[in-house]
Amino acid sequence: MKTDTPVTIRRGDYAPPAYLVDEVALEFRLDPAATLVRARLALRRNPAAAPDAPLRLDGEGLQLVEARLDGAVLPPDRCRIGEDGALTLLDPPAAGVLETLVRIAPESNTALSGLYTSGGNYYTQCEAEGFRRITFFPDRPDVMSRYEVTITADRTLCPVLLSNGNPAGSGLGDGNTHWARWVDPHPKPSYLFALVAGDLVNVADRFTTRSGREVALNIWVRRGDEDRCGHAMDSLKRSMAWDEQVFGLEYDLDVFNIAAVSDFNMGAMENKGLNVFNTKYVLASPESATDGDWQGIETVVAHEYFHNWTGNRVTCRDWFQLSLKEGLTVFRDQEFSADMGSRAVKRIRDVRGLRAAQFPEDAGPMAHPVRPDSYIEIDNFYTPTVYQKGAEVVRLIHTRIGPAAFRRGMDLYIARNDNQAVTIEDFVAAMQEASGIDLSAFMGWYDQAGTPELAAEDRYDPEARRYTLTLRQSTPPTPGQPAKRPLPIPVAMGLLGPDGAALPTRLAGENAAQSGTRTLLLEAAEQSFTFEDVPAPPVPSLLRSFSAPVRLQGVPREQLRFLAVHDSDPFVRWESGQQYAASVMLEMVAAAQRGEAPGFDPALAEAVANTLAAAEADPAFAAEALSLPGEGFLADQMAVADPVAIHRVRQGLRAEIGRRCGPALRAAYGSLAETGPYRIDGRSIGRRALRNACLGYLVAAGDAALAKAQFDAATNMTDSLAALSLLADAATPAREEALAAFHARWRGDALVLDKWFSIQAMADRPDAIEAMRQLYAHPDFDLRNPNRARALIGAFAAGNPAHFHAESGEGYRFLADAVIALDPINGSIAARLIGPLGQWRRQAPSRGALMRRELQRVLDTPNLSKGTFEKASKALL
Ligand code: ARG
Ligand code: ZN
Repeated sequence: MKTDTPVTIRRGDYAPPAYLVDEVALEFRLDPAATLVRARLALRRNPAAAPDAPLRLDGEGLQLVEARLDGAVLPPDRCRIGEDGALTLLDPPAAGVLETLVRIAPESNTALSGLYTSGGNYYTQCEAEGFRRITFFPDRPDVMSRYEVTITADRTLCPVLLSNGNPAGSGLGDGNTHWARWVDPHPKPSYLFALVAGDLVNVADRFTTRSGREVALNIWVRRGDEDRCGHAMDSLKRSMAWDEQVFGLEYDLDVFNIAAVSDFNMGAMENKGLNVFNTKYVLASPESATDGDWQGIETVVAHEYFHNWTGNRVTCRDWFQLSLKEGLTVFRDQEFSADMGSRAVKRIRDVRGLRAAQFPEDAGPMAHPVRPDSYIEIDNFYTPTVYQKGAEVVRLIHTRIGPAAFRRGMDLYIARNDNQAVTIEDFVAAMQEASGIDLSAFMGWYDQAGTPELAAEDRYDPEARRYTLTLRQSTPPTPGQPAKRPLPIPVAMGLLGPDGAALPTRLAGENAAQSGTRTLLLEAAEQSFTFEDVPAPPVPSLLRSFSAPVRLQGVPREQLRFLAVHDSDPFVRWESGQQYAASVMLEMVAAAQRGEAPGFDPALAEAVANTLAAAEADPAFAAEALSLPGEGFLADQMAVADPVAIHRVRQGLRAEIGRRCGPALRAAYGSLAETGPYRIDGRSIGRRALRNACLGYLVAAGDAALAKAQFDAATNMTDSLAALSLLADAATPAREEALAAFHARWRGDALVLDKWFSIQAMADRPDAIEAMRQLYAHPDFDLRNPNRARALIGAFAAGNPAHFHAESGEGYRFLADAVIALDPINGSIAARLIGPLGQWRRQAPSRGALMRRELQRVLDTPNLSKGTFEKASKALL
């Protein structure tokens, strides 16, 4: 029953395109069932390609109506559509104008790649390979063209007609139609093409660039959503100003449009001059969006805007270079958010995210370098490794050469590569030239998968007042890369004296005094650093600000406790507290596995009390410090994970802390109550986070009524949802009452309804699987909507480890059933959701066998999408 094995694309096989397309004219006549697309391509043979290379245009599911070359109809024996849907022109000229007319059906496009409809409106998603589902084209990022787009549609159904670039005319057409033309003066690859049309309304604003260019800003939404665009617009204007100030980069068109759509595979897309966004990253009001949602909007709006230079003006030669634009743009949005709020808290959250998603990926069957070597389905490589680890690697370079050289490097990178499709080497070369520092070894970070492990050993000689720090690195093997080499690891560090004060950090051979944070560069597998004139035996503070994406191991518990209180670096203070708690909790898990009572370390309650006492200075930081390490973080540190034991231990510990610190938690909870109107500044967000962290402990200790009272009184989504998610775990009638009230109030709001599904999917209930099956059958559940599918299925598999990994294997079966049902509808989302089953090697053999059985069942499904095939088959290797 097996269909052909999908082909593997390899980085080493890159060849330049046979033909280039200088100009493209597209004409759309929109219709849900039969849209016509006429494309005129000015083609010419690429001087860099073989002179006899065939003219082949990608296509997928296109119905060809006619093809002409320089005006003459091409007979069927000169153009052939292959098995894969691509069009090959036999006997091609060296240059010419190829015109094709194709028919497509956007209303039946459930994959949401190419041109599709959502709520009766038209949207496109072309990255990575969606343009070939719209017209025949060399659909690869190294073919850059200037686009002119004319859209014709019914005036009543589609009053708004948008595409990339600047508006260039509009008018009435035949019947009840009208048309609009858009011209994008900047050459771009096909993945940045966009079209949006339909009955939309806009929120408008303006931005004046620093050289005086007036830019019209618009956010396009469905009628009724206009009053929830303010934060996205404000984030956009701040992003535009920040990129001018920090990187000297100005916007380059007369208009910048954002369109929001509720059916969208990813977060958002940076199409030139016409970003398309998941509504989740546009719409927000205090009643309907959490503080996390507000921060997500700011980040994603900035990210897509920053792509205008890092991605659009300078793009990728091929998809293996994806991190060239994604890693760099994530780095830029992280820096933006750090500048907008608390840098330390932002760093802590980013590291939390990296560890929750990227570290496990690096330790699993899909582990791949930041620049992968091969893929079957490129959609599967929009990963935490390419994005978040890619950003960490850019940060390594930033740390290594310093901010001033980094800025010069960016200027050089853009000046030299503007309007070109380039590689990661081009980026590193610019940084190297601008800094004069040899960065060749840093390429290892792009090409080697796996998370390096870092260990320290030290020795103090009181006589000589000399301190020697020895650092060692090693990286465990990953699929296809059995042997690893050492990588350059910048280790930002300091030394603390017995009272916590900073000690000098002058290395042997240096003359000038050094104090505060300095950065050591570990280049070999093992290296020693000798510090002179150290007056007392120091405690080393390593990896300040998380200066490299590595696992620092084996720091003794006494040092962790000391650093958590005394270090000057907020990241290390937070980190040391987390590592201390993690080491205690892992011991408790081991005790629980032996059937012993887990015991309690009073230091954990002390830490909570100390955090609360000092919380006023920085409530957001206190909230981070108060949160115990997550279940995934703990599982990731066990040779064989035990998700059920981890969950029980963590819950039990929360209850114990809640009991022991009850009065202090209650006092903090009371004093943090909001007075006055809802505000979303950093301090207010921090206070809410801290207050809800306190609530969590108090409810764990038995006070479910407090959660119900907060839920009933809440005037913002953050407080409402925090209370509801705690109630969802509680065995009290208030649970059903609150869930029903929430559903009744929000049933008309898709984004909030997603939260209602997620909370239940993550709930710790004895009947969790049965509840999942009921939610799956709920009239409001819709497998076709990616947000809804993620809210239920994704939240369960990734956010409810204790029940996903239920001994019975029912959790695995539920996920596999959902993936099999979803795959024919939207293979991209199905492939994403299957991920957690790939982690079977980390589970006990009994669980692993059940997981493999479900992976095999998915793999045996006929006509599986390429993407799901790749994930399931690689997981089983
Ligand atoms: N370039 C987009 C972003 O990160 C993501 C688009 C990914 N699309 C996909 N089908 N994989 O901003
Ligand atoms: Zn991006």
